[in-house]
Amino acid sequence: MKVNKIKVSKIDQIDFDNLDFGSVFTDHMFTCDYINGEWVDAQICPYEPITISPSARVFHYGQACFEGMKAFKDNNNKTWLFRPNDNYERIIKSSVRLAMPEFPKELFFDSLNKLLELDNNWIKPGLGNSLYIRPFIFASEDTINATEANEYKFMIICAPANSYYSGDVRVKIEKSFSRAAKGGVGYAKAAGNYAAQFYPTILARNQGYQQIIWTDSSTHEYIEEAGTMNLFFRIGDKLITAPTSDSILDGITRKSLIKISKDLGIDIEVRPIKVSEILNAAKQNNLKEIFGSGTAVVVLPISGFGYENEKIELPTIENPWSLLLKKKLNDIQYNITEDPYGWRIKA
Ligand code: COI
Repeated sequence: MKVNKIKVSKIDQIDFDNLDFGSVFTDHMFTCDYINGEWVDAQICPYEPITISPSARVFHYGQACFEGMKAFKDNNNKTWLFRPNDNYERIIKSSVRLAMPEFPKELFFDSLNKLLELDNNWIKPGLGNSLYIRPFIFASEDTINATEANEYKFMIICAPANSYYSGDVRVKIEKSFSRAAKGGVGYAKAAGNYAAQFYPTILARNQGYQQIIWTDSSTHEYIEEAGTMNLFFRIGDKLITAPTSDSILDGITRKSLIKISKDLGIDIEVRPIKVSEILNAAKQNNLKEIFGSGTAVVVLPISGFGYENEKIELPTIENPWSLLLKKKLNDIQYNITEDPYGWRIKA
């Protein structure tokens, strides 16, 4: 791998206390090309615009997918990744579904570790601070035949991050639009899954919601996920989350929270959740919490939701499970406690 370091870092120009998620990037990035059936020209270079032909297939057919992962710094200035193997495996799964070549594991980790070494100062210690890492792959071949491409680019860019949302978050349970269908690409981190959400999300935002809770595309009766996060519902003293499927992303934070909940003795059920069950629980004052989970959002309490013409606010409760689970997760991520699961990996 070639390494071309920046001459002068831009880190001094960054206000780390006021980061707008995903809008500031570190000094370096990784790029690698897939040409003639081989990954070639792996290099780390300064973060900068790249040149892509207007006929690159990604622009026309959306052949692209990505990952979201995080690095954390502990109080002794050591850097840790959280379950990075799971991210690697998921980008391979997404790539396969989108007919893209598999990126080699060793090169994935070599480039990632080199980037984290070069841009280490960009990872700030302190709870809430992290480095959001965005590996992605797209079809770069410059012909617009509507078939899978023969050429691709794999890249990694990194953005220092703190919180994804600020303020209260309300969600709308969607009844008309769908995020993903059976047999589709909902389980993959396909770029197009996100583009397809923007229009319905604008409509929801105009009604006072930040996000949509997607329901199954055939009946709209079952809860799926929220697009940037998986969902957990606390009804009474039971925690419920939907099982993963071909239309729901297999969230790494989601499966970590399921494991932590079980080990805390929380009564957790992974099963289909009917919209009517949530509405009934809310009406009986039995819906105690809704929260989302994801790499970017970590664990995000939801303060209310809308369904058709109803708007429901959740009660404020003492010692919510969302905060408890977030703390347990953060304790592992930031090397505050032991990691009995082997999730925390030294960068
Ligand atoms: C992540 O949590 O990494 C996601 O993929 C959500 C992102 C679209 C902000």
